[in-house]
Amino acid sequence: KHADPEMTLLTYLRRKLGLTGTKLGCAEGGCGACTVMLSKYQPHLRRVLHLSVNGCLAPLCSLHHCAVTTVEGIGSVAGKLHPVQVRTVSVTCVGHIIGAVVADTQAHAQRAAKAVRITYQELQPVIITIQDAITHQSFFQPVRTIQRGDLDQGFTQADHILEGEMHMGGQEHFYLETNVTVAVPKGEDGEMELFVSTQSATKTQSLVAKALGVPASRVVIRVKRMGGGFGGKESRSTILSTVVAVAAQKLKRPVRCMLDRDEDMLVTGGRHPFYGRYKVGFMKSGKVVALEVTYYNNAGNSMDLSLSIMERALFHMENSYSIANIRGRGYLCKTHLPSNTAFRGFGGPQGMLIAESWMSDVALSLGLPAEQVRRLNMYIQGERTPYSQILDHITLDRCWDQCLEVSSFNQRRAGVETYNRDHRWTKRGLSVVPTKFGISFTALFLNQAGALAHIYTDGSVLLTHGGTEMGQGLHTKMVQVASRTLGIPSSKIHITETSTNTVPNTSPTAASASSDLNGAAVHNACEILLHRLEPYKTKNPKGCWEDWVNSAYFDRVSLSANGFYKTPDLGYDFETNTGRPFNYFSYGVACSEVEIDCLTGSHKNIHTSIVIDVGNSLNPALDIGQVEGGFMQGVGLYTLEELKYSPEGYLFTRGPGMYKIPAFGDIPTDLTVSLLRDAPNDKAIFSSKAVGEPPLFLAASVFFAIKDAVTAARKESGLSGPFRFDSPATPERIRNACEDRFTKL
Ligand code: MTE
Ligand code: MOS
Repeated sequence: KHADPEMTLLTYLRRKLGLTGTKLGCAEGGCGACTVMLSKYQPHLRRVLHLSVNGCLAPLCSLHHCAVTTVEGIGSVAGKLHPVQVRTVSVTCVGHIIGAVVADTQAHAQRAAKAVRITYQELQPVIITIQDAITHQSFFQPVRTIQRGDLDQGFTQADHILEGEMHMGGQEHFYLETNVTVAVPKGEDGEMELFVSTQSATKTQSLVAKALGVPASRVVIRVKRMGGGFGGKESRSTILSTVVAVAAQKLKRPVRCMLDRDEDMLVTGGRHPFYGRYKVGFMKSGKVVALEVTYYNNAGNSMDLSLSIMERALFHMENSYSIANIRGRGYLCKTHLPSNTAFRGFGGPQGMLIAESWMSDVALSLGLPAEQVRRLNMYIQGERTPYSQILDHITLDRCWDQCLEVSSFNQRRAGVETYNRDHRWTKRGLSVVPTKFGISFTALFLNQAGALAHIYTDGSVLLTHGGTEMGQGLHTKMVQVASRTLGIPSSKIHITETSTNTVPNTSPTAASASSDLNGAAVHNACEILLHRLEPYKTKNPKGCWEDWVNSAYFDRVSLSANGFYKTPDLGYDFETNTGRPFNYFSYGVACSEVEIDCLTGSHKNIHTSIVIDVGNSLNPALDIGQVEGGFMQGVGLYTLEELKYSPEGYLFTRGPGMYKIPAFGDIPTDLTVSLLRDAPNDKAIFSSKAVGEPPLFLAASVFFAIKDAVTAARKESGLSGPFRFDSPATPERIRNACEDRFTKL
């Protein structure tokens, strides 16, 4: 406030902090950002409109982690430099946001943010990996357990017992549109309107209201559509939207922020890495009779959704297999990484990959074909899951048989064997993997949805509902549901956006359940309207939609209706292992063939056949798109994408140049997707089923086809039996596993 406008920032900071010039430059010297002299930015800083409370975004410096930080900010209002409050905050990861800079342009804001200097005092211990967390016993509570049967008896009964472990890496969401928010203060009674790229309008609204200190009724969140979310904008989008809202409130003018790709990758977290340890008891036939599995996930520096994600991993610990005696336990590792979060499959793809790992070990140790052991253990109609849910209307066997047929499995197996006999340094592998994915939010209260439909006097319909559009085609499906219910063409129905002032208290668009939940709410709203129009239809049966709508209007009938839905008969209790966590299951089976190069570790995806049960598809084009997209995202997860951190937890892989997401060349040369016919589902709207997440795990067929090819390579060196193979199956892992290095169980 009292600083001399002519004083350089450097001088000012020196005096204020009592530091030497060197320290101000960058004492730690970790990155380029710190080497720029502060004074250079003085002219630009003068143009800065405001520098908010605490200073800046944490600079990208590798040594700055797990530390208590002193932040000194400088702002300029009307050409005068002024100090901003000094505060000490605890920073628990590289990428922890500690403040924001607001300027007239994005370039100015970015320069100003870089000019802010932060002193860190490093704290010990540094906990980055799951192994670090286990060593330091750094866990969030509670520890979850699901258990059924008698484990001791199961292991006593078993012909063989085998132990193993597996690690699987995390995944960056890589939505094409990074996180972005525009906040517009309305100038009255603390009102604010925000345009946000988020899967959770309501969560955004309540956190913004809390940050602004106003009631939720003053905050409107609007979501037109996202350029992808994939779970990454279910909760983590709020770390940006809340900050932008605070800035807009302080400045009383609109503020926008969109993260750059490297920032988004650094600060928002991703899929949880998992580590699993297992002990499996099985018979000579391959029938598994006992399983004890312990999961650890890398939660990062906050709980976020980690517990629910662990629960879903446990709910999928047996994948599609019936195991009489089973116990799964899950630990949430508290580490100094940006909080990990939801990602398509929500722990399911991790829980099931570890399941397929012990399944593969059983087959390898008995020397039996993996598909035979998988088929033998697969659930049949009427069996119970470890959480005591009875499986009715199970279609796994039909998906399996059709998948073998579509992929010409037997011929393909023979072809692979011939190829492998003829080739020493390249090998082919084949694998069939089933999946069963539970549909419902495991948090009971989230299984509700609302809708709002208006009919205008020209007959056009404006529809909205609680779900957001992120490319999965939800709005198209909702228009179809309204069209079918109202009996009018979809061209008369329009959805503009999702907003908290039209449908309140919405659940995040997640858990693949949005078309089930919102579809039923839209159906409900349309039924109400139909009921109101019924008398006019009866009076004028030859008339058209517009006639009935007009007659109702002139008769003073409301042409606007709310719809609501909650999923019936749900509610699981971990304490008593009773109650149904899921409304139903989506099933699928995939068969994949790959070729590996034993010398370089590279691989090619030759073929994949997928047969998936999505009920009576609401829209086959969209559903096949979801299956293909989900599958390829899984191919990225299990074979390509690898996040690399420094020992201090600084993410190195912050863009597509360093982080390999699937490209065209990674799509199997021959990829077929079949939707199972004649599989109506009486538990969801128009007999459909959820499709968003279930197909992702089918990419495990590629992972295990690679493992099959590696097994063939190992055979040439006289190696047999189970071996450790972690995910993702990168070239170095494939290369190493072809010999007996690093693969001991
Ligand atoms: N498809 C596209 N194109 N973009 C996305 O962001 N998200 C996935 C899946 N499919 C996503 C997607 C995730 S994580 C979920 S939970 C579901 O869509 C959510 O939408 P739904 O409930 O309508 O299936
Ligand atoms: Mo999806 S991970 O449930 O947003």
